[in-house]
Amino acid sequence: MTGDPRVSRKLHIKTYGCQMNVYDSARMAEALAPLGFAVTDAPGDADMILLNTCHIREKAAEKLFSDLGRLRQLKARKAGAGGTLIVAVAGCVAQAEGEEILARAPYVDLVLGPQTYHRLPEMVASLARGRGPVLDTEFPPEPKFDFLPETRAPQGVAAYLSVQEGCDKFCTFCVVPYTRGAEFSRPAADVAAEARRLIAAGAREITLLGQNVNAYHGDGQDGRVWGLGRLIRALAELPDLKRLRYTTSHPCDMDAELIAAHREVEALMPFLHLPVQSGSDRMLAAMKRRHTIADYRRTLDRLRRARPDIALSSDFIVGFPGESEEDFAATLAIVREARFAQAYSFKYSPRPGTPAAQSADQVPEATKIARLKILQDAIDAGQREFNASFLGRSMPVLFERRGRHPGQLVGRSPYQQWVHAQAPAHHQGSALPARIVAVGPNSLAGEVETAEVMA
Ligand code: 5AD
Ligand code: SF4
Repeated sequence: MTGDPRVSRKLHIKTYGCQMNVYDSARMAEALAPLGFAVTDAPGDADMILLNTCHIREKAAEKLFSDLGRLRQLKARKAGAGGTLIVAVAGCVAQAEGEEILARAPYVDLVLGPQTYHRLPEMVASLARGRGPVLDTEFPPEPKFDFLPETRAPQGVAAYLSVQEGCDKFCTFCVVPYTRGAEFSRPAADVAAEARRLIAAGAREITLLGQNVNAYHGDGQDGRVWGLGRLIRALAELPDLKRLRYTTSHPCDMDAELIAAHREVEALMPFLHLPVQSGSDRMLAAMKRRHTIADYRRTLDRLRRARPDIALSSDFIVGFPGESEEDFAATLAIVREARFAQAYSFKYSPRPGTPAAQSADQVPEATKIARLKILQDAIDAGQREFNASFLGRSMPVLFERRGRHPGQLVGRSPYQQWVHAQAPAHHQGSALPARIVAVGPNSLAGEVETAEVMA
């Protein structure tokens, strides 16, 4: 092994979980590039394999251990052939269960949490010096963003940019405040600089990321603290940036400035992921969500008044401890009433160390499965209705990449729907009006109406 940057080595990253992890994986690759690591899609070719994990529900952790079992064999085969393989585990499972990972899988070389990945080059160097496995799951005082390379690898037309991390809300089911730590917002100037670099590399749409993105409160460019609405206004001024989005939001942090941005900022897309988790006030209180269902309804009303065509998406948990048939019926009622364009639903999964996991009132698995099916059917029906409402209508599609068929491009509508259409390849990165001619379960088919690029 060597630290010589001229020696080319291959890095394979497998990402589990949310968009934040996708973003982190890209930044870890950039942090390792100066050490000579180039990214490969083929794990068999890699000199280093990094698993960027998610701890939000239990399946992801199980999956990690089964993937690690396979890596053990790969590492042994490489060693047999005189080679080496660095196995690294990053992300939220690493943060929560770092010691256990090293105990259960002693062939793992590096374990690092979401807040220490800027130290990856040092960790790899320490390994090269034969100092044995490294475990770094600290919450360091220095923000990692200050220590990561500025150069951003091109992400394509639609790019992600992390502006906020961590969470101080402590909903009783959720591990995020423990694995990602306290809320932190990046200064607006840093965000704008990164946005400019992404745009220079071809991005036309930027999604601002954060576990609690609308709790953003970063140092502004005028010496004041900016909320997300103010940040969005500033970013919308950047030349060549056509679209802005943000995810994931908490209903309590939809402040007046952010709602006003939905009315006034043209680049801010009329689509919002605003998880409600349950339609029952009793469950919302037990989850410590800090709002009632009436508050949520009021927030949707304000959003729809500000931006009448706004489409909404949500997350739901079924089978939270103590959830009765009535509580569940209230969840179905809000799904039908709120007309979500799409939504994600999950069976409650007790997470170690969270308050709800200790509740004696756990819901039987069979009930969770039955409720999940009913809820998913209701969500799917809403989504089909939403998509069908676009048939025959025209909307701007930002084309991101080539489709599977010759001459086809694929892009996103303002409402996050995938749209396929025949269009010349040079229109990648353009927003063109397309008339929707067919509606499928996962995407829409459109016909581009004009060759002129919409602003
Ligand atoms: N069990 C099930 N779903 C969960 N989520 C978070 N924690 C849990 C859990 N313990 C869901 C929530 C959240 C989404 C990212 O994952 O709905 O909004
Ligand atoms: Fe988890 Fe979101 Fe609640 Fe924070 S606000 S604890 S990230 S569910």
